Amino acid sequence: MAYERKQPSLAVALSLVLLLGLASIRLCRGDVVQFIFGDSLSDVGNNNYLTKSLARAALPWYGIDFGSGMPNGRFCNGRTVADIIGDKMGLPRPPAFLDPAVDADAIFKNGLNYASGGGGILNETSSLFIQRFSLYKQIELFQGTQAYMREKIGEAAADKLFGDAYFVVAMGANDFINNYLLPVYSDSWTYNADTFVAHMVTTLSAQLKLLHQLGARRLTFFGLGPMGCIPLQRILQRSSTACQESTNKLALSFNKQAGAAIRELAASLPNATFQFGDVYDYFQDIIDRPYMHGFNNSHAPCCTLGKIRPTLTCTPLSTLCKDRSKYVFWDEYHPTDRANELIALETLKRLNITVVANSTAS
Ligand SMILES: *[C@@H]1O[C@H](CO)[C@@H](O)[C@H](O)[C@H]1NC(C)=O
Ligand SMILES: *[C@@H]1O[C@H](CO)[C@@H](O)[C@H](O)[C@H]1NC(C)=O
Ligand SMILES: *[C@@H]1O[C@H](CO)[C@@H](O)[C@H](O)[C@H]1NC(C)=O
Ligand SMILES: *[C@@H]1O[C@H](CO)[C@@H](O)[C@H](O)[C@H]1NC(C)=O
Ligand SMILES: *[C@@H]1O[C@H](CO)[C@@H](O)[C@H](O)[C@H]1NC(C)=O
Repeated sequence: MAYERKQPSLAVALSLVLLLGLASIRLCRGDVVQFIFGDSLSDVGNNNYLTKSLARAALPWYGIDFGSGMPNGRFCNGRTVADIIGDKMGLPRPPAFLDPAVDADAIFKNGLNYASGGGGILNETSSLFIQRFSLYKQIELFQGTQAYMREKIGEAAADKLFGDAYFVVAMGANDFINNYLLPVYSDSWTYNADTFVAHMVTTLSAQLKLLHQLGARRLTFFGLGPMGCIPLQRILQRSSTACQESTNKLALSFNKQAGAAIRELAASLPNATFQFGDVYDYFQDIIDRPYMHGFNNSHAPCCTLGKIRPTLTCTPLSTLCKDRSKYVFWDEYHPTDRANELIALETLKRLNITVVANSTAS
């Protein structure tokens, strides 16, 4: 009797051991994932779920060179810089935070992307877009993810997931383009260039410190490109199609101070591998000498509404340039897939990151 009753419970115990064993093998495999914070340069679909946002890449011809060619939320014809860098490092591409299909398993295997078109370091940036996630908001959402994952996979596994992960933060252009440089925002008359940049960098420093407090150990912050050379900035100048040098100066000043702040955090925070990715001069060279880098046009967007410029966004009524790989810019704000690829490869080189995968799939 007693013997007979023991058998099934032994079997249950054995299978439990087996199950737990498998579970811990899976959790200990140490899948390294990314958590991405950013603006439209890194958005992979969040804003398409923010139905009131005025910054969305929900219509053709966005995504024309990505997968099926349908819009996917990227503000590009193809891949973002973060897509390409992650691919080259052999990391999975994190889904958009607002993607309803995302569950604990997807986060555990792929990480998560909180980037949102219009997002800025400062809360008030891009308020005219009505809906967007600022960097503070994105960090708040990340804290929610942490609580959720602790509940789903346990404290220790969650700590390992976040501690091993790569954090990417790419922000700042909107704080100028859709805040400081527009007189409708009070920041444009509250600050001068120096005090505004200092305010941005102080805020960014606090935000990166907060991410460290939350467990981020490996983090890369991407500096700004020559944003005075985006087609919109050139066309707004009217008198010529040259780059707006005053806007470029703001980007350079921000990069200089943000770089110093990140080096300081890396030196003072325990176990922090914080890096600053800056390819401003390389991007400027692509714009100045497009032919040397395989491009034919570095001043106009590939996607335009005939001769009407600027248009806020690429639309199904727009016409496209003949060869998208020959244009540096896709729309008035954002580089093409090909330009992003060159920027990503140069960033990897400068950060001494070993390329482990040559995947070129989009
Ligand atoms: C910015 O927004 C966050 C919420 O997303 C809030 O906690 C914080 O206090 C705000 N900071 C400022 C300076 O308004
Ligand atoms: C830093 O890393 C060491 C070794 O992995 C660990 O023992 C220590 O707890 C870490 N400190 C912090 C603050 O993360
Ligand atoms: C470069 O652009 C010019 C006009 O802007 C065009 O005539 C020429 O065919 C283009 N060359 C290539 C290789 O695309
Ligand atoms: C990359 O390696 C070079 C040469 O070894 C070194 O000078 C440079 O500081 C390194 N850069 C980073 C970001 O580690
Ligand atoms: C990636 O491609 C480069 C150049 O074609 C090659 O040298 C390298 O070995 C490749 N790396 C891998 C991991 O396939």
